[in-house]
Amino acid sequence: MIASNGGEGKASVPSAPLKIVVFASGSGSNFQALAEAVREGRIHATIELVVCDKPSAYVLERARNFGVETYTFSPKQYPSREAYEEEIVAKLQAQGIDLIVMAGYMRLVTKVLVEPYYGRMINIHPALLPAFPGINGIGQALEYGAKLTGATVHFVDGGTDTGPIIAQQAVEVKDEDTLETLGSRIQQAEYELLPKVVGWIAEDRVTLNGRKVTINN
Ligand code: GRF
Repeated sequence: MIASNGGEGKASVPSAPLKIVVFASGSGSNFQALAEAVREGRIHATIELVVCDKPSAYVLERARNFGVETYTFSPKQYPSREAYEEEIVAKLQAQGIDLIVMAGYMRLVTKVLVEPYYGRMINIHPALLPAFPGINGIGQALEYGAKLTGATVHFVDGGTDTGPIIAQQAVEVKDEDTLETLGSRIQQAEYELLPKVVGWIAEDRVTLNGRKVTINN
């Protein structure tokens, strides 16, 4: 792809594709949505690696189907979170990863991971943050009686779903909703939102300034 440089007659050098790692612990349907967007050329990126803390997680099979390398570890085999994160950081640095995408990664992270990747690590959460952070964001919204919930993509800081918000998509809660019906509509929203945000980052359109995130046109 040759980008225009404003008509000065010179072709600019195309930027390198964004190198992504996806962290996941479960089904990996968000990985799938992202991998499809990359494969279809909707995002100028490559998914280099899937990092997973559960050897039986279905995301690993999805990764193999897309020919994506996987790195699986068992947290119990390490003395601390910091110990396995040090290994992961070394691997990400060796592979020149530009962006960490946490999509259903069910572990808290420490500064070992956050410090080198702050501003280059995002997470998707199934609620409109700052409402209903932590586990079971969908069930929390239902139990609370919220009329509107949704999905949030945010930068990861040291807290539980507390980092600067990049984008959100709202989903209405219906009277008859169950965990399953609401969950499935939120997931549909996630499959749009996450690839969209990763696409913006790949186009270098996302600016982080304190807690404020702006998307440049
Ligand atoms: C998603 O709903 C995401 O918001 C949450 O965990 C779920 C992961 O689903 N953090 P999947 O593994 O991508 O199918």
